Amino acid sequence: MNTLPNASRIPLLEISNLKAYYGNTQVLYNVNLSLQQGEIVSLMGRNGMGKSTTIRSILGLMPHCEGELFFNGNDLLKLQPNKIARLGIGWVPEGRRITPNLTVRENLLATQFNVTRDAANTNLSQWDLESVFNLFPRLRSRLENMGGQLSGGEQQMLAIGRALMTSPQLLILDEATEGLAPIMRQEIWQCLWQLKKQGMSIVIVDKNINVLCKLADRHFIIEKGCTVWNGTSSELSENPSLKSKFLSV
Ligand SMILES: Nc1ncnc2c1ncn2[C@@H]1O[C@H](COP(=O)(O)OP(=O)(O)OP(=O)(O)O)[C@@H](O)[C@H]1O
Ligand SMILES: [Mg+2]
Repeated sequence: MNTLPNASRIPLLEISNLKAYYGNTQVLYNVNLSLQQGEIVSLMGRNGMGKSTTIRSILGLMPHCEGELFFNGNDLLKLQPNKIARLGIGWVPEGRRITPNLTVRENLLATQFNVTRDAANTNLSQWDLESVFNLFPRLRSRLENMGGQLSGGEQQMLAIGRALMTSPQLLILDEATEGLAPIMRQEIWQCLWQLKKQGMSIVIVDKNINVLCKLADRHFIIEKGCTVWNGTSSELSENPSLKSKFLSV
């Protein structure tokens, strides 16, 4: 049993007072978020509030950010995107961005990464084609199809598989099920439950609050570039005014 109080556990990801700018336009003012190893946290907020920008900041894709952004003790504000990816952060971008003229196999192998990060870190597992197909059997039968020939749901599975092939310590999904048919959404949620069972740390953005309340451990709500609330699923469920104030469309 872990006898340490929560406050003394070092988060895997810690964001404090994050500010970010597109050119001269500031869009993040004070984003705060933390995630412990093995936790799933959601990032919620209405359209345009800064969820994707927060994710881009974590990945080193915002040219101008300030504040504190630490992953596993590494100061992400000092690192280039390729270095950040190699620390073990897998990204499933909004809109999926599958390479249409590569096959499913090529899309997956293009990101495969051999885990050599830290032999002392027993939480890392090496992902390969077989482990991705165990999660998404549908992709196995599409192996030699071009990315562009897949349905939206299959492309999302491929996008998740591609992120997992980097053998990440943290998986970040931006709009996990947006625009997908209900049956495909179901399959994506099942995959995320499977990853949760395996102890994967996940940051997830999605509009389906009810599913997120069951899947995620904690939630962070962003409003106009500021974290305005964070709490557990039961705290969110018990506070319907939060949904109408910050999450209704
Ligand atoms: N490339 C860009 N250049 C300038 N402004 C941008 C750019 N991308 C986003 N923005 C602005 O930054 C703000 C935050 O956008 P962001 O994409 O982070 O929001 P979001 O919460 O992910 O929204 P959505 O739910 O629509 O995906 C918005 O006002 C948006 O118009
Ligand atoms: Mg977005």
